[in-house]
Amino acid sequence: MKEIYHPPVLLKESIALLKAEEGGVFVDATLGGGGHAEAILKANPENRLIALDRDEEAIEKAIKRLEPFGERVSIYHANFSQIGEVLEEEGISKVKGVLFDLGVSHFHLRGERGFTVWKEQPLDMRMDRRQKLTARTVVNELPERKLAEIILKYGEERFAKKIAREIVRRRKSKPIETTTELAKIVEEVIPKKLWAGKKKHPAIKTFQAIRIYVNREFEEIERGLPAAAEFVEPGGRIAVITFHSLEDRLVKNILKELEGFKPVTKKPVEPSPEEVKENPAARSAKLRAVERAKG
Ligand SMILES: C[S@@+](CC[C@H](N)C(=O)[O-])C[C@H]1O[C@@H](n2cnc3c(N)ncnc32)[C@H](O)[C@@H]1O
Repeated sequence: MKEIYHPPVLLKESIALLKAEEGGVFVDATLGGGGHAEAILKANPENRLIALDRDEEAIEKAIKRLEPFGERVSIYHANFSQIGEVLEEEGISKVKGVLFDLGVSHFHLRGERGFTVWKEQPLDMRMDRRQKLTARTVVNELPERKLAEIILKYGEERFAKKIAREIVRRRKSKPIETTTELAKIVEEVIPKKLWAGKKKHPAIKTFQAIRIYVNREFEEIERGLPAAAEFVEPGGRIAVITFHSLEDRLVKNILKELEGFKPVTKKPVEPSPEEVKENPAARSAKLRAVERAKG
């Protein structure tokens, strides 16, 4: 199989905002393919990096990539809400910067775990395969009201109620097993004139919603950002890259509430037209950073 590569988004911008060239201890809370991690380690030969990811497959690949940095890097298979436990285990009480590059990676979208509407795959969507809850369970077992609530809340899908009703009607005769079956149901509910001829698949919002629910993505952000903040030294920073408006709104509000921190980016940093051309997946990315006040 062809090796999947995840091009790191807003790479120069995030490394600069983290002040990685000044040297210190950094955390990459979302290691993924290791692109940002490698850049942090290269920015200063004194840099030490603690990296976390909840996806074992991503970790396996990143371990190989970061091998040349030896003991300067420690990698953990963990959720970023566990950042406190990880740093405690490392005996670290203060860090200079923490990076969160949220959401899914190309490994997820191009892999076989049901993250994409474009390929026929089993409904799974778990980033961490140790977890029990899958998209299949969500789609086939949750009550209609709960399904509608999830699709509306995490997908901002205005046809949420109708989609939930149709899912429940269909699953009575046979369980919904694959991404294609789910995508087709959504396609049949949303009026064709709203999506025909457009590049965006009509089921994208529903898929996003189920993925966020399966992976408890917002709970992770709500716990992970404040937990990371506790370890940031004066003058140190937290940088966060988001990929959709719901996520960005949540991050913006949490960062605003962090005590003792001030914004470094008044407006979020967005990718240049050149980056979007090279990597269309970067088009919706937004980077925000905050700094702990000195003294
Ligand atoms: C956009 S990718 C990161 C890409 C990475 N910056 C790079 O340069 O390759 C996001 C990664 O975060 C991981 N992730 C998402 N939520 C997480 C969480 N709550 N805890 C730990 N890892 C998480 C995903 O498994 C995925 O590998």
